[in-house]
Amino acid sequence: MPELDLPQRQAPDALMLTGFWYRALPADRVHRNQLYKATLLEIPLVIGRDRLGQPFALRDACPHRGMPLHCGRFDGENLECGYHGWQFDVHDGQCQLIPSLTADQTMKVDRIYAGSYACEEQDSFIWVFIPDPTPPGAGFAPRAEAPDAAPQIEKFTGKYKSAYLQAEMPVSIDHGIIGLMDPAHGPFVHQAWWWRSQHSIHEKKKNFEPIPNGFRMSAHTPSSNSAPYKLLRLYADADSITTTIDFVLPNLRTETIRAGKYWFTSLTTVTPITRNHCRIDVVAAWNLFRWVPFVPGLLKFVFAKFVEQDRRTMELQAEGLQHNPHLMLIDDADRPAKWYFQLKAAHLEAKRTGTEMKHPMPGQVTLKWRS
Ligand code: FES
Ligand SMILES: [Fe+2]
Repeated sequence: MPELDLPQRQAPDALMLTGFWYRALPADRVHRNQLYKATLLEIPLVIGRDRLGQPFALRDACPHRGMPLHCGRFDGENLECGYHGWQFDVHDGQCQLIPSLTADQTMKVDRIYAGSYACEEQDSFIWVFIPDPTPPGAGFAPRAEAPDAAPQIEKFTGKYKSAYLQAEMPVSIDHGIIGLMDPAHGPFVHQAWWWRSQHSIHEKKKNFEPIPNGFRMSAHTPSSNSAPYKLLRLYADADSITTTIDFVLPNLRTETIRAGKYWFTSLTTVTPITRNHCRIDVVAAWNLFRWVPFVPGLLKFVFAKFVEQDRRTMELQAEGLQHNPHLMLIDDADRPAKWYFQLKAAHLEAKRTGTEMKHPMPGQVTLKWRS
């Protein structure tokens, strides 16, 4: 048998990539003058909004003796640690006051920093930039700034609606992500009488192309059993509908569907919480059905159903993964998963050597599978 026909053994490394923006909390759950706990890449965070509504993110550990800062007092501007009352500016983490110092003690309070993270609100979420690990002595260094803004959903018109949903999954970031880009599980996991069954399986052929840090399923007429497509057909000529799906490191999946002046876009992220735990967040924006009252609800119902089916599957998968079984990736259905691992490796290699990233895809590639 030629080597290429053998399934490749493969074990996800569950490595979490730093130097990227991650979704932390839904924006509508974070209120002014309040503190919230969140975890990203095993880093405990305290997140909140100042009195003007500006979000912030600090490491949830006081640089003095590690007391969780979310237990402290927050006046809408400074956060006071609950142990010895040190006060920190919530936006840059700079220490403002150490109450135990006497007038003649000249310690430079402003040289001390609580761990602080670049933080932005974008498309229904508070995003946090997780920089590469800082060298020791970080308690005396200001934070690392993000090189770019948090990812945004592209909107094609001024007026649109949007909604989000999320689900937690007890698997590593890698299983979360390859589950997201896996075309072969559809007929088995996402069955519903009003949707599709195993009998609807048919051969598919799609073109993929490299894009910076990721790959794109080139614009095509969507599969006749995709959710938004079924609804879109009510609005536009089936042939005028195109969809594009991008995956970009570390965890961004964008699906854009366009039909004349109508559009539907979703940005799905799988966020590493810990090594063995991730969360999927879907934010969708659209300009169709805006005037039809029940459609957004219906759309959310359909999406929630899909996400719940994926979540349930991964919960079961986690049981099987407990004892580190051997795993494999096969062609062509698992090729996107292979690209994901190759992209990750190429990204890390480029970072290690300080050279430009070598994209693992040679150019345009056509994949075939049945689903
Ligand atoms: S531990 Fe926070 S002030 Fe001492
Ligand atoms: Fe799925």
